[in-house]
Amino acid sequence: MKLRSKHLLGLEGMSEEEIAFILDTAETFKEILSRPIRIVPTLRGVGIVNLFYEPSTRTRISFELAEKRLSAEVVNFSTSVSSVKKGETLKDTVRNIEAMKIDMVVVRHQSSGVPYFLTQCLNASIINAGDGAHEHPTQGLLDLFTIREKYKRIKGLKVVIVGDIKYSRVARSNIWGLKAMGADVSVCGPTTLLPIEIEKMGIKAYSDLDQALEGADVVNVLRIQLERQKGGLLPSLREYTNKFGITKERLNRLNENFTIMHPGPINRGVEITPEVADGPHSVILDQVTNGVAIRMAVLYLLSGGEGKVE
Ligand code: CP
Repeated sequence: MKLRSKHLLGLEGMSEEEIAFILDTAETFKEILSRPIRIVPTLRGVGIVNLFYEPSTRTRISFELAEKRLSAEVVNFSTSVSSVKKGETLKDTVRNIEAMKIDMVVVRHQSSGVPYFLTQCLNASIINAGDGAHEHPTQGLLDLFTIREKYKRIKGLKVVIVGDIKYSRVARSNIWGLKAMGADVSVCGPTTLLPIEIEKMGIKAYSDLDQALEGADVVNVLRIQLERQKGGLLPSLREYTNKFGITKERLNRLNENFTIMHPGPINRGVEITPEVADGPHSVILDQVTNGVAIRMAVLYLLSGGEGKVE
């Protein structure tokens, strides 16, 4: 099997078969990462640039490690020390980078649609590492991988995504991916942070956290973006924590073998208490570990890989 596109812009429209293929491939890479020598020659000679126009810890480091462990030639681009500071446009920047023989571009940008725009001006494979409020597909894939790793299935699990759904690219990629894999998906947050007609995505929407958590298997807690308060979308962080914060007391409503997830970075004590974030049901650091294997799988498959990696 091969992926249908040479780009990864989002999980919207991706089939169950394609997602399962990426997750299966990531399992192979996770096994490789457990070996004493974790480097394979799979992408030797392939040039990759990591183009981050927005801050990132997990995604940037994870992509860089994935690329290096696949033996690719890696270049990191940061706007703060580039000619973007001198006014160079995005199109000129990427065309100049491609002129240096780059095969793949990993891009994070504050504007939705930038990864798609790059597919229109470059021949390279484009991987979306988070664009505005649109999608963050590798985060969605690593979340799916982490859920499947624990439960050995995704179909039929009740997954609740809590927080700023309206502006969250992580929420959108999770919803598309979880729906494709047959999960029962709900979202929960203040009405000001729930998109109008979100139910049209085939999910349930709640503004009462206790109702949303009833009988859930997985709770994916989103970072509350502190700037939302300045924008008048949240009355106060204290009220948000009271109504939507994930505390130990609220966990009683979940199924016995429940799982707590968070894409990071965490605002401890705002959307989740440290006790829950670091508790026995948390897989937050497993998500980060799995991110490297997922990104190795995505890079390998988008570069034309189709067989099993040994
Ligand atoms: N989850 C995530 O995208 O984290 P970073 O912003 O640190 O990359």
